[in-house]
Amino acid sequence: MKAVAVFPRERAVRVIDAPEPRITRPDQVKLRTLEVGVCGTDREICGFHYGFPPEGSDHLIIGHEALGEVIEVGPKVVNFRKGDLAVLTVRRPCGKPECPSCKEGRQDFCYTGAFTERGIKQQHGYMTEYVVDCERFLLPVPKSLREFAVLVEPLTIAEKALIEVWQVQQRLPWSCPVGGKKKPGHCHHALVLGAGPIGLLGAMAFANAGFSTFVYSREDEKCSKADLVRSFGATYISALTTPVDKLVDRIGSIDVVYEAAGASKLSFEVLKHVGHNAAFVFTGVPGLKGPAEVDTDQIMRNMVLKNQVLLGTVNAGRDAFENAIKDLKDFKKKWPEALRALITGRYKLSEATTPLLSTDGIKNVIAFG
Ligand code: BGC
Repeated sequence: MKAVAVFPRERAVRVIDAPEPRITRPDQVKLRTLEVGVCGTDREICGFHYGFPPEGSDHLIIGHEALGEVIEVGPKVVNFRKGDLAVLTVRRPCGKPECPSCKEGRQDFCYTGAFTERGIKQQHGYMTEYVVDCERFLLPVPKSLREFAVLVEPLTIAEKALIEVWQVQQRLPWSCPVGGKKKPGHCHHALVLGAGPIGLLGAMAFANAGFSTFVYSREDEKCSKADLVRSFGATYISALTTPVDKLVDRIGSIDVVYEAAGASKLSFEVLKHVGHNAAFVFTGVPGLKGPAEVDTDQIMRNMVLKNQVLLGTVNAGRDAFENAIKDLKDFKKKWPEALRALITGRYKLSEATTPLLSTDGIKNVIAFG
């Protein structure tokens, strides 16, 4: 079968012939890959800045945002049947006895760092025609989401952040009065930094949870992304016309920041302006560009005097995948055109290097025949 692989030592990315995986355990499921999304992590791996082949292999098959169709199930599989659609989680447990998270299926919080990740760290990924994995790493997806389910994995980043924000904010009276059409977040302002796929999907998730949602990005307020943001009820703020120190004038008190730009300097600038009891979530992984000047006194004063929380989050558990599937159903009902506009390109497997080596569009996808 065909697969897309990175050869770090050779510094090459190409389509290869790989052995078709077979079911070798009774709890495994075999999928025919339908779509695989391309993200910033894939591009980093293809730039040889990140990614680790499996032990003993000179290459890594990439791809971790996958939608597949079940074509075969092992005898102990209970929740999947031939013809079902499924998405796959990314991280696999470290298996070390001293790691309570991995033992409980929460490898997204692995303590040892010895976890593996399909398509990223020491396990081949999903940019292949067929995939086999254990049932417990798969989630069923309704057929009605066939067109959009490739967005489940990137949406899980925001879903995990939302779960964490709600949990962390249980430290204070944070719940909004609900009733009627009011959604749980309606009394809070959420600011999303960045208008890439993680930022836009995050903004949709915050808007869907009722937050007054604002997206802050570089392009001007007349650009098509700004229209897209407005189409799902959020506000687009351009950094060209609104400097960071004027954000509060546009937004009001900033209660949550969902950082999805990977820009550390911008993030710490924004951190100076967040409100009382605010939660600030980092999801971006910036390149290491060396030290930068930050007003640490101002930030620390605010964090203490305003009870603020700063947290980082990576990967996602099954709970976030379940919420992503639920949210995608809502998005499809409420904003189908916005969702459609997020997927800017569909490429054949043989053309995979094009989206992997460029940053054009919002979300590019490899669509298998
Ligand atoms: C993936 C996560 C992964 C992270 C770090 C992200 O692109 O969505 O699943 O944990 O990269 O490797």
